[in-house]
Amino acid sequence: MKQCKTIEEIRKEVSQFKREGKTIAFVPTMGALHEGHLSLIKLAGSKADEVVVSIYVNPEQFGPNEDFEDYPRQLEDDIQACKDAGCTIVFTPDDEIMYGSGKKYLSVQVKELNTHMDGGSRPGFFEGIVLVVNKLFNIVEPDFAVFGQKDIQQVQIIRQMVKEFNHNVEIVMAPIKRAEDGLALSSRNAYLSQEERRVAPYLYSALKRVEEKVNQGLMEPEDMLELQREELKAKGFKNDYLSVFSFDTMSPVNKLEKGERYILAGAAYLGKTRLIDNLILDL
Ligand code: PAJ
Repeated sequence: MKQCKTIEEIRKEVSQFKREGKTIAFVPTMGALHEGHLSLIKLAGSKADEVVVSIYVNPEQFGPNEDFEDYPRQLEDDIQACKDAGCTIVFTPDDEIMYGSGKKYLSVQVKELNTHMDGGSRPGFFEGIVLVVNKLFNIVEPDFAVFGQKDIQQVQIIRQMVKEFNHNVEIVMAPIKRAEDGLALSSRNAYLSQEERRVAPYLYSALKRVEEKVNQGLMEPEDMLELQREELKAKGFKNDYLSVFSFDTMSPVNKLEKGERYILAGAAYLGKTRLIDNLILDL
């Protein structure tokens, strides 16, 4: 495995792969890699000849009161984990390489798809993601890019970006990796105290209970969602949202219909840690 720190270095590697007729699968990350990330890297390896992983904590996707400074950074361990998972190139740019210091005259705007769910709670979050992923796609020029269902709104917005900006890449969505007790793996789980970690899997349990009722025929799940919100609150969560959203537009839906696809998603704080989780409802 090779580590590239500059755009010139990685472009050289990518050009060589292209000359050899090799395909590239790309996994963008912010590091602090866990089994969830590694499952994406392995899936990437099954899709293409070469696997490129980027590790970059993107300042543009953090709000002023968010955890950019505290975000876990463990580059040496991450590089080793990438190597073990079968990655061929790890791209580890710094802020100067990614954004330079010159004045910026352009920006991207995300509309409607970011009104609800995480976009609703984190202004500028998806603009920051679209900006950095757009840049990374232009640098890596992958044939495939793998993203986790854990951040399903991100997957959907990136799919739209690919369509509207004509990126020549196929987006692959990987399933959510969970701890044995159901908690979705996340770099932010490292912030949880022992007691918070014990309570954290209830977010997934709440989603599973709603899913079960929907599978039994409940088509207007608001009362059930409200019950679960209250239960989470009683367990010490500070709820952000727990709702059913349209799969395509990611706006909230009150009445479900047969033959449609939805996202059942929740976000809640335990102490200062923001947890998110979701399930896809295929009716
Ligand atoms: P990060 O949070 O590091 O996540 C990198 C990728 O790993 C994302 O596609 C995310 O959905 C996936 N992932 C995280 N936890 C997962 C889990 N438990 N199971 C499966 N996949 C999981 O998402 C980002 O970074 C950034 O927004 C990025 C795309 C790199 C742009 O900066």
